[in-house]
Amino acid sequence: MTGIEFYSNGHIISEAGSMRQKLGALAKQYAATSAVIITDAGITELGYVDIARQSLQDSGVKVTVFDDVVADPPIAVVNQAIEMARAYQCDLVIGLGGGSSIDTAKIVALYPNDFDSINDILDADLSTFKKLPLFAIPTTAGTGAESTFVSVITAEDGSKKAIYTPKILPDVAILDATLTLKLPRHITAATALDAMVHCIEAYTSRTKKNAISDALALQGLKMLWQNFEQVLNQGDDLEARAEMLLGSTLAGIAFVNSSVAAVHGLSYPLSINFHIPHGHGNALVMCPVFSFNLPEAAPHYAELARTVIPEALAMTDLEAATAFIAQLKSFLQASGLKYRLSALDITENDIPALADIVVNTYARLIATNPKDISLEEVRAMYKEVL
Ligand SMILES: [Fe+2]
Repeated sequence: MTGIEFYSNGHIISEAGSMRQKLGALAKQYAATSAVIITDAGITELGYVDIARQSLQDSGVKVTVFDDVVADPPIAVVNQAIEMARAYQCDLVIGLGGGSSIDTAKIVALYPNDFDSINDILDADLSTFKKLPLFAIPTTAGTGAESTFVSVITAEDGSKKAIYTPKILPDVAILDATLTLKLPRHITAATALDAMVHCIEAYTSRTKKNAISDALALQGLKMLWQNFEQVLNQGDDLEARAEMLLGSTLAGIAFVNSSVAAVHGLSYPLSINFHIPHGHGNALVMCPVFSFNLPEAAPHYAELARTVIPEALAMTDLEAATAFIAQLKSFLQASGLKYRLSALDITENDIPALADIVVNTYARLIATNPKDISLEEVRAMYKEVL
C-alpha cells in the first residue's frame, strides 16, 4: 500500500460576493497592515481591484497594486513584483486573477527571504523559507492555481520553470463567482476543459493516484461537466458559474496532490512554440491522448463516465470510456474553440519539433500517464488533430 501526503488550503471560502464582503476582515485575521495585490491590467479595468482595495482599506489595511502580470509570466516581471512588495514592506500578498497572477503572487510571498532574483532560488530548497500570508482570488474557473503549490514562470530562454513546494500553497482561497461572470466564452470554455483534464489526469495517474484526490476529482468533474454547457450559453448564470469555480478548485487540489499527465505534456509545447493558451492546448490534444490510453485506462475512465453519463451505468467499461471521450469531443466542438492544429497555423512540418519537446522536456508527464508513449506515438497524436 502506498502512503499519502496531502496538502490543501487551510481556508476556502466559496460564496458569491465574498471578496467585497470578507477580504478586509480576513486580512485583519492575519494581522496584515500593508497588502500587495498582484494582478493584470485587465482585472484592474474590470473594477475588481477597486473592490478588493476598498474592502482592505475599510479594515485599515494599506494597499499596493502590481498589475503588470502577463500570461506565462517572465522572470523579469515576477522580479518587478517582488521589488514592489519589498519597497512597500507588504505583509500580505494577494493574487487576484487567472493562473499567471496567482502563480506570481506565490513567489512574491517569499520576498522576505534573502535573494535578488528568482533565478537564485529556482533550484533551492525552500522548505526553511519564510512565507508571508498569501490569499488567492481566482477570476477564471480552470487553473486551480488558488489551491496548488506549483508556480510556473517563463525563463529568459522561453522555457517554463516550475517552483513546486507546499511552501507556496495559498493560505486562503476566496472563490467569488461574481468575478467570473464577465469571462468571455472562449476563455470560459478553454479554462473549463483544462479543469476537466485536471480531474481526469489526477484520477488516472500511473504513479500518484490516491484516494483523497480521487474523491475530489470525481466531485469536481461532476460539477464542471454538469454546468459546462450552461456557462457557455448563459455566462451570467451565477449559480452555474459558482459550481464551475468550486469544481475547478477541487480539480486543482486533486491534481497537485496526484499529477497531470500526457495531455499536459502535449499541450505545453503548443503554448511554448505557438502561444496557444494552456486550456486550449489541453482541449486540442485531450481526445487523442485519452483514446490512446484506453487499453490501460478504460476501467478508470468508465468510473468517471458513470458519475456524469447516466447511460454509462449500463455499459461495459470500454463502452463507457468510449462514450466519455466522445462527449468530451462534442464539448470541444460545441465550445467555439478551434479544434484543429491546422486552423491555428500549425503544419505537419511543425510536428516533429513539438514531439521532440514532449519527449525531451516533459518525460515526467509521460511517466505519470496511464500508458507509455513513444516519440512516434506522440507525433501520431498530433497528426490526429492536424
Ligand atoms: Fe492545466
